[in-house]
Amino acid sequence: MMVAVKVIGLEHVQLAMPAGHEGEATAFYEGVLGIPRVSKPAHLAARGGCWFESSALKVHLGVEGDFKPATKAHPAFIVSDVRLLARDVAAAGYDVVDDEPLDGYDRVYVFDPFGNRIELMQPLATPAGTGGPSAHQRNSPMAVRDLTNADRQAATTLWAAVGLTRPWNDAGLDFDRALAGPTSSVLGAVDEDVLVATVMVGHDGHRGWVYYLAVSPALRGRGLGRHMMGAAEAWLADAGAVKLNLMVRHTNQEALGFYERLGYVDAEVAVRARWLEADLDR
Ligand SMILES: CC(C)(COP(=O)(O)OP(=O)(O)OC[C@H]1O[C@@H](n2cnc3c(N)ncnc32)[C@H](O)[C@@H]1OP(=O)(O)O)[C@@H](O)C(=O)NCCC(=O)NCCS
Repeated sequence: MMVAVKVIGLEHVQLAMPAGHEGEATAFYEGVLGIPRVSKPAHLAARGGCWFESSALKVHLGVEGDFKPATKAHPAFIVSDVRLLARDVAAAGYDVVDDEPLDGYDRVYVFDPFGNRIELMQPLATPAGTGGPSAHQRNSPMAVRDLTNADRQAATTLWAAVGLTRPWNDAGLDFDRALAGPTSSVLGAVDEDVLVATVMVGHDGHRGWVYYLAVSPALRGRGLGRHMMGAAEAWLADAGAVKLNLMVRHTNQEALGFYERLGYVDAEVAVRARWLEADLDR
C-alpha cells in the first residue's frame, strides 16, 4: 500500500529543564556542543528557558515546574567528530556513556547538566579503499571519488548537518537522481571511513552545474572546499562542459565569499523556478 507522506521534517526539539538554570544550559549547549544561544521571542521569554539554534538544528530548553530528566527518551544529534566532542564533554564534567555499535555510525550518549540524555552520532561512510593512514596523516590531497548508493545516508546526513537541506525537498531523492543519470554524479572525499565533503555535478549538454557542495564543519578552512570544486570542474570538463554555473541562496553570504575567492563572478542572470511535480502540494 502506498502511504502518503504527511510529516516532512523536524522543526525543532524541545527538552525540559528546571527553572533558573539557564546559565548551566548555555554552558553545555552553546559552550560545549557549540549550538549558538538565540533570543527567545519576547512573548515567550517570560517563561524562562532558552533556545539554541544553528542552520542545521534547533534545540529549545523549556522550564518544567516538576522537572524530571528524560533519561530514556532523547534526541540524537549528528556530529562531525564524535570522539573529539565526547572528549570535550567529559573534560567539561558531563557524563559520557558508550553503547552498542550501530551500523553506519560511531555514537555515544552524553547527559546535559540536568541529566537529560542526548545521543551524538557520527555517520561512517563506505571506505573507498582498504583503510590505511588518513589523508591528513599522509599529508596529501584527499582522494575524491564518485559516491555510490552505499554512501546515500552519509551524504544526506552531511548535507543536513551543514544546513543544505530544506523540509520541502527530499535530499535522498536528489542523491538517487544524480546517481541514476549518465550525465551527473555525486563526488565525495572520505577520511578514515567518514564522508567529509561532497559535491554534486551535472551536465545538461550545454553547461555544467554544481550542487550540494559541503565540507564537514570540523575540516573547514583547510582547502577542502577548493579541492572539491577542483574535482567538480575536472569532472564537468571531462563530460564536455565549457562553463560552470552554480546557484547560491541569497542568504548564504559565506558561500558567496568562498566562490568569489575561487574566481566565480556574478553572471548577472536572474534565476526563475517552478515546480513540475503538479501532484505535490508545496
Ligand atoms: C563553503 C564551504 C564549502 C567552504 O569550504 P572550506 O573547505 O572551508 O573552504 P576552503 O578552505 O577550501 O576555502 C577556499 C578559499 O576560500 C576562502 N573562503 C572560505 N570561506 C570564505 C568566506 N566565507 N568568505 C571569503 N572567503 C572564504 C578561504 O579563505 C580560501 O582562500 P585561500 O585558498 O585563498 O586561502 C563550506 O564552508 C561549507 O560546506 N559550507 C556549508 C555548505 C554550503 O554553504 N555550501 C555551498 C552551497 S551553494
